Amino acid sequence: MSETTSATAGNPAPSAAKTVTLTDNSTGKTYTFPVLEGTVGPRVIDIRKLYAETGYFTYDPGFTSTGSCQSQITFIDGDEGVLLHRGYAIEDLAERCDFPEVAYLLLYGELPTREQLTKFETTITRHTMVHEQLSSLFRGFRRDAHPMAVMCGVLGAMSAFYHDSTDIDDPTQRMIASHRLVAKIPTIAAMAYKYSVGQPFVYPRNDLDYAANFLSMCFAVPCERYQPNPIVAKAMDRILILHADHEQNASTSTVRLAGSSGANPFACIAAGIASLWGPAHGGANEAVLKMLTEIGKPERIPEFVRRAKDRNDPFRLMGFGHRVYKNFDPRAQVMRKTCHEVLGELGIEDEPLLNIAMELERIALSDDYFIEKKLYPNVDFYSGIILKAIGFPTTMFTVLFAVARTVGWIAQWKEMIEDPSQKIGRPRQLYTGEPRRVFVSLEKRG
Ligand code: CMC
Repeated sequence: MSETTSATAGNPAPSAAKTVTLTDNSTGKTYTFPVLEGTVGPRVIDIRKLYAETGYFTYDPGFTSTGSCQSQITFIDGDEGVLLHRGYAIEDLAERCDFPEVAYLLLYGELPTREQLTKFETTITRHTMVHEQLSSLFRGFRRDAHPMAVMCGVLGAMSAFYHDSTDIDDPTQRMIASHRLVAKIPTIAAMAYKYSVGQPFVYPRNDLDYAANFLSMCFAVPCERYQPNPIVAKAMDRILILHADHEQNASTSTVRLAGSSGANPFACIAAGIASLWGPAHGGANEAVLKMLTEIGKPERIPEFVRRAKDRNDPFRLMGFGHRVYKNFDPRAQVMRKTCHEVLGELGIEDEPLLNIAMELERIALSDDYFIEKKLYPNVDFYSGIILKAIGFPTTMFTVLFAVARTVGWIAQWKEMIEDPSQKIGRPRQLYTGEPRRVFVSLEKRG
């Protein structure tokens, strides 16, 4: 493959200004494909006509070299540890904004003015209650159901409750669905938690901000008002900001793929939640705590580190490594600081599991295997520890990730629906099964 670099940089529109040439060695034929450039980040080869022109598909399991869409929402430079939302660095957003501001930025493309923010927060606050009939749905689940299973079911069921915001071709309905999802997801998550512990559901409180209201719905009981600790509420808000969007990860790609068929937004978010659940993705924060519990005491850490390095052992250190960040995860750096603030505030720095976590962090950051493979603690390593300190059971960790990511999912879904080049997502495959064979009747098989 050769690349011509004589012309000026192009833009995301197909352009012959820059191209790559592919030579098929079996026929000697050459084919030329346009190169597209975004505002920052690596260039991409536009292979939309590859099959039509050459008869070849590409093969890229895990999509490690595939850009599936154009997007203006989030940019990641994994080598440099950069994460930008609409051009703003995550460190600035986490330090200087609250979650609704970031949600507005993701949905509308700009940071809100004071007036826009007030209006947005009012809209979100006024949509936090869920249809009363939706609470009956919870009662159909076993009390010991995993809250992520409940979330998948209840989110999918939302399309049966909010018919007036399922027409994806109507921009107003799309925006109403987006607001409803951002507003109601904390309520539904808190209900899933309350149901699992056998306590009555707690209604939202309009006098609290987004994060504090969520904590109140989780930890208040009808006989006792909940007054959130400001450091804990701030940490919750930061966890939400740091998980709000992350480009075309597995769950976001799932939301886009589900939405590409024209499915309604609530169904798409339910699909995203299902994808998030796995331990290689959002389920990692829960897996971190399970792993720390399994390790049990600091003396056993070397044994687990040894297992993580053993190629014949499938065990991995949960909360370490990232597909995209190969230097450091900028979210993890903010989360680490918040983690220590929360532990200090709550006076639980000596908790045994947290001691194991801190020792594991120290070893992994100084061990050659982890340094060479660029395996750093990721955001889920610290978020699990903070959430445990706040008092959430481990089964709720991934649910909290879903609460935060809903705004990213819905912003990406809206962007896709509004993109004129959008098509139904339909990857192809490298078939390695039997070629056509002669049918054998049942009597003759054996
Ligand atoms: N512990 C030990 N070794 C690891 C780990 C780990 N956590 N992660 C990767 N490696 C090794 C892996 O064995 C491989 O070694 P080798 O080259 O000798 O075969 C090498 O590092 C590259 O790993 P990979 O599986 O090719 O990398 P990937 O980009 O496909 O996987 C990952 C990324 C996040 C799935 C993986 O690092 C992992 O399983 N981490 C643990 C789970 C986790 O914390 N996930 C949360 C990710 S952050 C939140 C989110 O995005 O949802």
